[in-house]
Amino acid sequence: MKRALHITSSARGGQSYSRGLSTAIVNKLVTRNEVGVVVERDLTKSPPPFLDKTLIGEFYKHAGTNDEKGSQLLAYSNAVFNEMNEADIIVISTPMYNLGMSALLKGWLDQLVRVGLTYKFNEDGSRSGCLTGKKVYLAIASGGKLAFWPEGYEFIESHIKAVFSTYAGITDISTYRVEGTAMPGVNVNYEEIIQSL
Ligand SMILES: Cc1cc2nc3c(=O)[nH]c(=O)nc-3n(C[C@H](O)[C@H](O)[C@H](O)COP(=O)(O)O)c2cc1C
Repeated sequence: MKRALHITSSARGGQSYSRGLSTAIVNKLVTRNEVGVVVERDLTKSPPPFLDKTLIGEFYKHAGTNDEKGSQLLAYSNAVFNEMNEADIIVISTPMYNLGMSALLKGWLDQLVRVGLTYKFNEDGSRSGCLTGKKVYLAIASGGKLAFWPEGYEFIESHIKAVFSTYAGITDISTYRVEGTAMPGVNVNYEEIIQSL
């Protein structure tokens, strides 16, 4: 059985629709015996530090050359990398805030992506992702509906797909959405949303 990593990032705890959707995905994978172990990373409980000059400096040092202080600064980044590296399946949920992913999830991405770790440069200058062979499910909740926005206003799925494919080598990504959560009479059926899973 496979190992899953479940990442949640809504500020609304148990009332969160994105968390409800990603939990339904995880439960379905567990129920059909595809997943045996689930590691939880609730970003509201372990918020990623913002990148600063010192941490970026540590990111770009060769592996094994960070001193003790540098290693401490890298602790969060190393932890989220190890969780990703060990997982076969990653289920990520995010609310839509101002058309984008939650700042917590963006902060997590910024901690995860590192040259020499999640991707490397080849001799000809091209890049190769190092976390290949993984499956990602995205669960996105929004107050409005994609169909009502101007064309080109989808930024969450497209951003995460671009980052994962460019800087991690992860291309197998399926997206599920809870839409219209701010609309009157909202009635969400998670099983229906993920019936193709
Ligand atoms: C600060 C903030 C910004 C939001 N921005 C948008 C937005 O740009 N578009 C939209 O459709 N919904 C927006 N919403 C509504 C949320 O996407 C909606 O409440 C969603 O259900 C949040 O996910 P959650 O239920 O997992 O917390 C916003 C909500 C908040 C609190």
